[in-house]
Amino acid sequence: MSLFDALPAEVSVYEVSPRDGLQNEAVTVPTTRKVRLVEALCASGLRRIEVTSFVSPKWVPQLADGDEIARITPRVEGVTFSALCPNARGLERALEGGMEEIAVFISASETHNQKNVNKTVEDTLAGFREVIGPAVAQGLRVRGYVSTLWGCPYEGDVDPRAGLQIAHELLSQGCYQVSLGDTLGIGTPVQTQRILSLFLSEIDAPQLALHMHDTRGTALANIVVGLEQGIRTFDASVGGLGGCPYAPGAAGNVATEDLVFMLHGMGVSTGVDLEKLVQAGQVAAAIVGHELPGKVHRAGVRSLPG
Ligand code: HMG
Ligand code: MG
Repeated sequence: MSLFDALPAEVSVYEVSPRDGLQNEAVTVPTTRKVRLVEALCASGLRRIEVTSFVSPKWVPQLADGDEIARITPRVEGVTFSALCPNARGLERALEGGMEEIAVFISASETHNQKNVNKTVEDTLAGFREVIGPAVAQGLRVRGYVSTLWGCPYEGDVDPRAGLQIAHELLSQGCYQVSLGDTLGIGTPVQTQRILSLFLSEIDAPQLALHMHDTRGTALANIVVGLEQGIRTFDASVGGLGGCPYAPGAAGNVATEDLVFMLHGMGVSTGVDLEKLVQAGQVAAAIVGHELPGKVHRAGVRSLPG
């Protein structure tokens, strides 16, 4: 079967710029400007937005205003706000903030997990018992991330079977979907095909999503492989907001405009108005005060004269 036989009528875009994007900015963006970004994203037709994190403010000071974001950002009918949540304290904050959804996160590689949440993979999964089940019991939906599946900055190659076991555990604890993370933006299409074949041999496609960072320009190529394999949810960050302040030139998640431009051009709908999304990207660039790496963000939707 070719890609053209496999193309769906529509896919879901899960927007992460207010969280994954802003957590990597060197300076902390004022709360009201973050709210402006979320409002612009909602206006573009995006329906799933990760608006902040309820993690330790000592670890991620850029998102220390998560409670305020949850409290003051106007809700829009049909739009689900989510937030990262590492532990029971995070869940408490999510409930106080009236969130409908949270996302737990863990790495497929031991060292990255230790550096990210100061715990072993085993202890992190055990700790999620205080988060996922109780959140579901209180009416929240819980998403899971498995990071570093395509490679770890400390350990190099990662055995995807370790990530698969983690994904099973996240689903069995109550996550409705697990997003597979190329945290380093290092994956290539054949590797993506191998990883997805493994996951899809044991997990249904609607329970999986792709979270591709575009650090080396391969995110869209990997996403096309995902489409072909049946994945229907893709994470993205407007303008490609993100990257690492300590690694000049490093890009963030795949830019939402690039993803939507490609999908619409292939006849796959997203429910997003691309022109309004481009405007949201301009808001993102304005609030962080620098140019963003997204290709459509830079070139515009149409580059031909007339
Ligand atoms: P710790 O220091 O080991 O734990 O941090 P702790 O329990 O001893 O807590 C330390 C302090 O933080 C205490 O305060 C706690 O109360 C407080 P103190 O007593 O010192 O004043 N604290 C909290 N405060 C607010 N909200 C909370 C919370 N929890 C503890 N929820 C911890 C462990 C997990 C908290 C920490 O390591 C942490 O917050 N890590 C977050 C790291 C992070 O956000 N990384 C980026 C997101 S992951 C990512 O980007 C990958 C992804 O995009 C997918 C991909 O790309 O692959 C998702
Ligand atoms: Mg990420």
